[in-house]
This record gives sequence, structure tokens and C-alpha cells, in this order.
Amino acid sequence: MNPKGVVFCDPIIWAMPPNDERLSSSIDIYRKKTPRSAKIFERSKKYHVNGVSHNIRFFSPYPFVTRSAKGRSITDVDGNKYTDYWMGHWSLILGHAAPPVAALVRKQLPSCWMHGTANEMTVTFSEVIQKAVPVAEKIRYVSTGTEATMYAVRTARAHTGRKVIAKVDGGWHGYTTDLLKSVNWPFEKPESLGLTDDAHIVSIPYNDLEGSLKVLQEVKGDLAGVIIEPVLGGGGCIPARKDYLSGIEEFVHRNGSLFLLDEIVTGFRFSFGCLYTSMGLEPDIVTLGKIVGGGFPIGVICGRDEIMRISDTSMRSKSDRAYIGGGTFSANPVTMTAGRAMLQHLRKNRGVYNKIGRLGDMARRGLEKAFGGRVAVTGKGSLFLTHFLRDGVEDIANAADAARCDTEMLRRYHFEMIARDGIFFLPGKLGAVSSAHGEADIKALIGASERFSSLIEQQVPANV
Ligand SMILES: Cc1ncc(COP(=O)(O)O)c(C=O)c1O
Repeated sequence: MNPKGVVFCDPIIWAMPPNDERLSSSIDIYRKKTPRSAKIFERSKKYHVNGVSHNIRFFSPYPFVTRSAKGRSITDVDGNKYTDYWMGHWSLILGHAAPPVAALVRKQLPSCWMHGTANEMTVTFSEVIQKAVPVAEKIRYVSTGTEATMYAVRTARAHTGRKVIAKVDGGWHGYTTDLLKSVNWPFEKPESLGLTDDAHIVSIPYNDLEGSLKVLQEVKGDLAGVIIEPVLGGGGCIPARKDYLSGIEEFVHRNGSLFLLDEIVTGFRFSFGCLYTSMGLEPDIVTLGKIVGGGFPIGVICGRDEIMRISDTSMRSKSDRAYIGGGTFSANPVTMTAGRAMLQHLRKNRGVYNKIGRLGDMARRGLEKAFGGRVAVTGKGSLFLTHFLRDGVEDIANAADAARCDTEMLRRYHFEMIARDGIFFLPGKLGAVSSAHGEADIKALIGASERFSSLIEQQVPANV
């Protein structure tokens, strides 16, 4: 176990201590109910590093193998059904296999799922996005959030002619080479081998305006932009303070740098549009992903015309333009159709946001009550994460606070619910309520948490 804790976005493999007696009975239960998953996962390890294609999807002793998913549930190959709060990396705001998306995708498939030429679905989809996200005067589609943030950073550098990008400690923007720095607390070591140069990335303390401005001041001459998630997602489900974001924005704009908001998690999550509009912010570039793909692969770079123009190859010579966007599958007909179906549904059914926000509130309140003073539950709207507090951590304002909590206990809690209660959070990660969830699900979650709370009550007194 890492004595300093591990930040939740850490894509390292989490291995439970094999001889942890407190867990052994739930591991037994899990093994008994998932024999086919165990077998398939053994096969998977022969072909895939760590047995998976995304490190975070592994959890010990082995992840169950999914057979199907519908609405709020995932069913594994052994027939176990789990109420799902991971929801496809938080991308499935309407639940799995949402009928409004499925219907339009089915209709699209016979006429083609890939052609690599211009298509009308993209235009229609962009019309919907632009109305809801005013900064999206120009849009480029890619296939992942990682690509979107990579291009956002490149755009900022190209537009300003400067090199330095600031990101926050614990900020997660995908595996983007440029931004794979200061992700995991204590934010010291390089995050990965194979990164050639992170000299032009600086990190700033989240939700600490004074501390951040101090760092930005030092690099201001070469500062191309600052990239921030308005709710730190992987870093602990922590909303940014409004005065923090507006203070950074003001500095950045005064300095001729760009303000980049990574809304890959937050876009269309809390309302029909982005969080920045409701916070009164004026970013130059916004990245989107997850929800806007309707469950299909997507990344979106949205920006003001004046800025995105740097990538206009028709007007510029090779020496003064940037390559932004690309990719064989960018703007493919299926993703464009699914994304449009998702957004059109959300636009017409804004009650979804009231519903999932209310359930999120219910979860946060219920979980805090279930665990007494032992936890803080952070989040916003339909996103929430339980932090098991330790001495000296009372408030979760940034990724370091989150990492100093008992992250092993959090993973244990999530695993216990998988094994015993049929409730699935990716161990250690925040949960997302979808419109397919209901009050009964949240009550079941609170009930399972009460049981876990009384179990650990007998083992460890609160706040040690
Ligand atoms: C805020 C944020 N940005 C970027 C990414 C990367 O997106 P993708 O996994 O689609 O590459 C993620 C993924 O979780 C994210 O949470």
C-alpha cells in the first residue's frame, strides 16, 4: 500500500494486499460468483498488457467481464447484475444502450458507418453544439478526449507563439504527452517513462488563486495558456471555486495567454451546455468528449473563430499554421449521429438534469450520514465521490487533500459493494448518476454503505 495515498486518476494498477483478512471474505464471495470472468480474464492476460486496454479498468483480483449492459445495469458473463455508477467512464448520462441514441444509430448503420468524407450529420451536430456552447464558433472533431486536449494545447501555443502551458496539480486530461505531468500526488516524479520533454509544462495548485498566480507570474512571458477542469474529475471530484477560475481567467487574458477549459467530463453533465456559461466564464477554447459522443468515441475542440483560424490550411502558408484535428475516424457518421441523438434528447428533456442532480444530492447527503464524520462526499450535481478522512484532512479542496485521505479504504468500500451488493463503482473512482437510475438505487447504495460503515466501525475507529 502506498503510505502517502494514491490520487484517483492514477492509472497505475491497484493490487489489493493479498493477505488482507478484512477483505478475504469478500474476495471469496467475488471469486465464487465470477468463475467465468476469472477464466476469460486469464485468457485476456495472454494477449493484453495487464489484461486490459486501459489501466484503470483493472481491479484486483480481476475485473468481472461484461456480457451486456442496459439502462442502469451491467451484467457480467456469469449473469451477475450490477447497478452501475461508472457508466462508461461517466459518458452515459442516459444509461446504457439509451433508446433515443440506439434508434438513430440503427437507422444510420444501413447507409454507412464509415466513409472518411464530408457528411451532413457533422453539420447538424455542430449546429446543436454551437447553440449550447457559444465559444464553439469553430469546431474540430477527433476520436478521444486525449486528442482534444493535445490539440487544445497546440492551438494555444500556435496562436500565442509561446511555449508554456500551465495545468493544475492532479488535473487529468488523458494520456496527452504534454499534459502527463503532476497528475498524481505528491506531484513530483515523472508520470511515465518515454516522455521526452515536460520543460514547458508548469503546474499550479488547484483552488489556490494566490499560489497559482505566483507560479503564473514567473512564466508569464512565455505562457501560452492555462488548462483546467472546472470540476477536478479523476483528481477527486472537486468543483473549482468560482473566484479561482475567474481569477485565473483574468490573469491569463491580461497576459495575452489563452484560457482553456477541459469540459470533457462536465460538458452537458449539469445542464444543457457547459459549466463555464453558468459560471460566467469566458474561455478561449473548450474541450468536450464523453457525453457528447452519445457513448461512441469522441473528442471535440471548440474555440473562438479568431483562435481556431490558426489551423486554417487554406489561408495560411505552412510556416504560420497549426495542424489541429485529423484522425481516420474523426467525425464518422455513427459518432456524429449518436452525439446528435444524445444532445437532441437532452435539449428536449432538460428534466433529466433536475432528476440526476436531485439523485446526486440524495447520494451525497445519504452517504455522509451513513458514514458519520468519517467521510466527506465531494461532487456536484450527478457526480459524487466518498473520501475517507484522515487526521489533518478536513476539507477536500484539491487533489492533494483527496490523496491524503484513506484511498485504500475507498477502494475496499467499492470492492465490497461489487462483491456483496451488486453495486459497481470502478474501485476508487467517482460515481455518476444517469437518468436510468432512480431513488430506489440511491437508497440501496446508502443501505450498502451503512452496512460497510458498521463493518469498519467494528474494525477501525473514525478518523484514525
Ligand atoms: C477531464 C478529462 N479530460 C480528458 C480525458 C481524456 O479523455 P479520453 O479518455 O477520451 O481520451 C478525460 C478522461 O477521463 C478526462 O476526464
